[in-house]
Amino acid sequence: MLDIKNISKTFNPGTINAKKAISDLSLHLDNGDFVTIIGSNGAGKSTMFNAIAGAFYVDEGSISVDGKDITFLPEYKRSHFIGRLFQDPLKGTAPTMTIEENMALAYLRNTEGSSPFSRISKKDKAFFQEQLSLLEMGLEDRLKQPVGLLSGGQRQALTLLMSTMVPPKLLLLDEHTAALDPGTAEKVLDLTKTITARNHITCLMITHNMKQALELGNRTLLMSDGSIVLDVGGEERSHLTKEDLLSRFKAGTGQELDNDRILLSQ
Ligand SMILES: Nc1ncnc2c1ncn2[C@@H]1O[C@H](COP(=O)(O)OP(=O)(O)OP(=O)(O)O)[C@@H](O)[C@H]1O
Ligand SMILES: [Mg+2]
Repeated sequence: MLDIKNISKTFNPGTINAKKAISDLSLHLDNGDFVTIIGSNGAGKSTMFNAIAGAFYVDEGSISVDGKDITFLPEYKRSHFIGRLFQDPLKGTAPTMTIEENMALAYLRNTEGSSPFSRISKKDKAFFQEQLSLLEMGLEDRLKQPVGLLSGGQRQALTLLMSTMVPPKLLLLDEHTAALDPGTAEKVLDLTKTITARNHITCLMITHNMKQALELGNRTLLMSDGSIVLDVGGEERSHLTKEDLLSRFKAGTGQELDNDRILLSQ
């Protein structure tokens, strides 16, 4: 469903600060793939997500989704079929707007034939409540409260819901549980599994947790220096340990994995 062919991106080209963040990278995803991504600091993981989401156009190569070339499609148009969550739980929602208003914006924006400024109907409201109850956080009774009152975990769960209410073709998760306390992180991760499975959403998830990377989904990528240095799935992946990942990283790059957060994660 996603086809990335030989993309490259250099920031500040031709200057002393030039940095090749993505280097001749190719990736093919099948429908329904759930792929975890792990890598050293500055490996280009978030930059690859930015390239897919259209935060900038790549210097070389092409990106297509379901056979449609989106290499030069602007970001706001890609956002109709590519969902994205960031590490910062404050990023995906508007704090002074109510839960209901935030959901309406996300829902109506992605629904054919309606304007985000149309009235929230009774039917919409019932749908929002039904969706919120899936989170099991009691948010279905707090529709009229500003999102700014929610905890980080509640807010991230809401953002996840908003990004998937109208299922995107592709969901990009950039360490979306890393800023949450362990219990909440687990809850949001469970929701991620349930929601993506229920809606058959193809998903790329960056994590710094090697255990998570190997347990979740069906395929794992290791990134270093703007490239994918390891791509494992199926039978081979099911036997891999954290130690295997580290030694495969070293074999592929000639370097030790230098990300302390990864090395210290449980
Ligand atoms: N907008 C930008 N302008 C200049 N350099 C950038 C920009 N975005 C990223 N970079 C550089 O590109 C490289 C890759 O950064 P990126 O954020 O993709 O790394 P990452 O793999 O997500 O790392 P981390 O694990 O720390 O989040 C880094 O050297 C970074 O400094
Ligand atoms: Mg990053």
